[in-house]
Amino acid sequence: MVNSSSLSDKNKDLSEHQEWPWWPLLPLYPYGRRRSLFRELLPKQIWCFEQLQGLYYVAVPVRMTIVKVTGGLMLVNPLPPTNELLSSLNELVRQYGPVLTIVLPTASGLEHKISMPALARAFPKAGLWICPGQWSFPFQLPLNWLGIPQHRTKILLEEGLPHEDCCLWLSLGPLDIGLGRFQEIACFHKPSGSILVTDALVGIQSDPPELFEVDPTPLLFHSRDRGDQLLDDSLRARRKGWARLVLFASFLRPAYLSIPPILKILRYAFKPGLRNAKAHFGLYPFDWEEGWESSAKELIGDKKPLLQVAPVLERLIFPRAKDSLIKWLDELIAIRGTRWLISAHFSAPVEFRPNQIRDLKRKIIRKNWASAEGNFRFLDNIDKTLVSRGVVPKDPLEIFRD
Ligand SMILES: [Fe+2]
Repeated sequence: MVNSSSLSDKNKDLSEHQEWPWWPLLPLYPYGRRRSLFRELLPKQIWCFEQLQGLYYVAVPVRMTIVKVTGGLMLVNPLPPTNELLSSLNELVRQYGPVLTIVLPTASGLEHKISMPALARAFPKAGLWICPGQWSFPFQLPLNWLGIPQHRTKILLEEGLPHEDCCLWLSLGPLDIGLGRFQEIACFHKPSGSILVTDALVGIQSDPPELFEVDPTPLLFHSRDRGDQLLDDSLRARRKGWARLVLFASFLRPAYLSIPPILKILRYAFKPGLRNAKAHFGLYPFDWEEGWESSAKELIGDKKPLLQVAPVLERLIFPRAKDSLIKWLDELIAIRGTRWLISAHFSAPVEFRPNQIRDLKRKIIRKNWASAEGNFRFLDNIDKTLVSRGVVPKDPLEIFRD
């Protein structure tokens, strides 16, 4: 029989194993404790770790991908290297060889670059490759100051490309986005037929990610309609909570959401059963209006993940640069042997054969691109404000590429 003190010792060990001491650099939920889910995505070729990241229980998984390359492993899209993550990763190292390369393929995705220094320190012999145009705000700092050791770091495209015997690299952008640049370098891993991206494309499905099975609190929290409702667990509640998280992550402030007056929020707070931090003491500042569910269905595939350009990117990065996106999709279509998409968010692997990429391209061409209506209204306001203040260049976005 297991006694309670040995269970609490075990939990303490696990919690130390999941510690991420650098969380104050980007203070996102779940802060200093990052659980990692390890999954084999394509047998003996591609694996991943997933961790939750977000704000106020609006948390979605973020993924680091591990790729088998000649002589060892390549890590793409860094994640915080907790002891838990490193011990599973070292199992792979024992079977498939050392971590040869760590790649940060995005110029702008802060949630992906924040753990590059710690991951680099965990693998002191690995070569580091980063997307050109890394920027820091409010000041442009040298790489060493950002914690990325310059002596073993190379810039993708400008100083060559890693593992070209088994990988093909394709740049989306660069685009001038005022504060810095948007650029993402996708990797086509020939042996597995997989295209690895960071934020450019995602596939979303109705089943909540497996990572929530360990702790479904964020799903249950958002599945409610009022603060005085308990966090009851059921498959229906999990799916409902997941659909709302998808809307938050996609539009930041979805159209069918309003913030109730403070007195209404307080009326439902501090009820019996909810006087705990997990339920945020019953404080629930959201009112979902009729129509939210059908608007979520436009983003979420029922039987399989729905392939799409994330709405945040559509409205804030590509509103005036649709042509660059189409050009990049054409490059992907021209590759022989594409089968899978593995991105740093949402579902993976997602089927991604040339006919599916063509369908996506067609959909983008026909779509009312970067709309200002409905769910897009809030993102549209941000974009218009940035353009009117001169932070983001006016139509069209300047492209740096020669
Ligand atoms: Fe991202």
